[in-house]
Amino acid sequence: MRRIGILTSGGDSPGMNAAVRAVVRCGIERGMEVYGIQRGYEGLIEGAFLPMSRRSVGDILQRGGTVLKTARCPEFETERGIKKAVSMIETLGIDGLVCIGGGGTLKGADELSMRGVKVMGIPGTIDNDLGYTDFTIGFDTAVTTVLEAIGKIRDTSSSHERTTVIEVMGRHCGDIALYAGLAGGAEEVLVPEREFDINLLSRKILLSANVGKLHSIIIKAEGVEIESGKLVEIIQERTGRETKLVVLSYLQRGGSPTMKDRILATMCGAKAVELLAEESQSKAIGTVNDEIVAYDLAEALEQENVFNEEMSDERKFVYVKK
Ligand code: F6P
Repeated sequence: MRRIGILTSGGDSPGMNAAVRAVVRCGIERGMEVYGIQRGYEGLIEGAFLPMSRRSVGDILQRGGTVLKTARCPEFETERGIKKAVSMIETLGIDGLVCIGGGGTLKGADELSMRGVKVMGIPGTIDNDLGYTDFTIGFDTAVTTVLEAIGKIRDTSSSHERTTVIEVMGRHCGDIALYAGLAGGAEEVLVPEREFDINLLSRKILLSANVGKLHSIIIKAEGVEIESGKLVEIIQERTGRETKLVVLSYLQRGGSPTMKDRILATMCGAKAVELLAEESQSKAIGTVNDEIVAYDLAEALEQENVFNEEMSDERKFVYVKK
């Protein structure tokens, strides 16, 4: 393994830079040439490759976003696009590739692997929606950002005695909502994995207001079917209490990664290089029970993402509605 490429693709997540740094530095340490590919699979198809040095990844460990830039690439979802990417890899003499991103990125990595490219997938997404790994890089930072927002929103909600619905990201996964709701003491958490009853929710808001609670914070994952504005309207109508909506949106994707995300990213990056140096088959790297793991890429992608029953047990935490 002499020459390797690294790319970040799909939605960015805090910690991607830490993973890029680890791959570049560990690769160079092992005598490899490391090329950074810009804008994910788009740059792979176009041949947007840059030689990386130890210095080129200095001062990025603590930065959010990705210095390699990222994109969603519809062309790479076609046979023609994938073929172009494979021929670019051959032309540039890339012996192995590290792809950092979410489910779509790892699926793309698997497509390349099926066509003979050696690929290591690193889970970089705030959504925490990959079944084979306990955590994805960026999730911890995103939840921390939501927690900061909950604290601030609670201050003003109490002063005005309001209900506030906070919409968080996560695509089809409720993990950001669940973890932030549990750690932030939300009144209720609405996730796509569970149905909820709007009558019960409204009654609960009224009951807590009647016992003197000044505010109600409802965390709603974006994947929950009802549109957030509509939900706010219904809650206001049924409770007679002023209800506001805060959509945290891209705020959750930025910011300096937490210690957890930096460590996870660094360990995954180092593992990817180690596996490439060993000429291992393509793998998906992640973490299970605090250990770094590497599974067959295709098999890893088949693992269902299981919602955390323990954390969402309403008998204990009384809020994620079944
Ligand atoms: O996958 C990360 C994520 O931020 C999701 O939570 C969200 O649904 C989506 O990306 C937004 O995508 P885009 O950046 O294309 O608007």
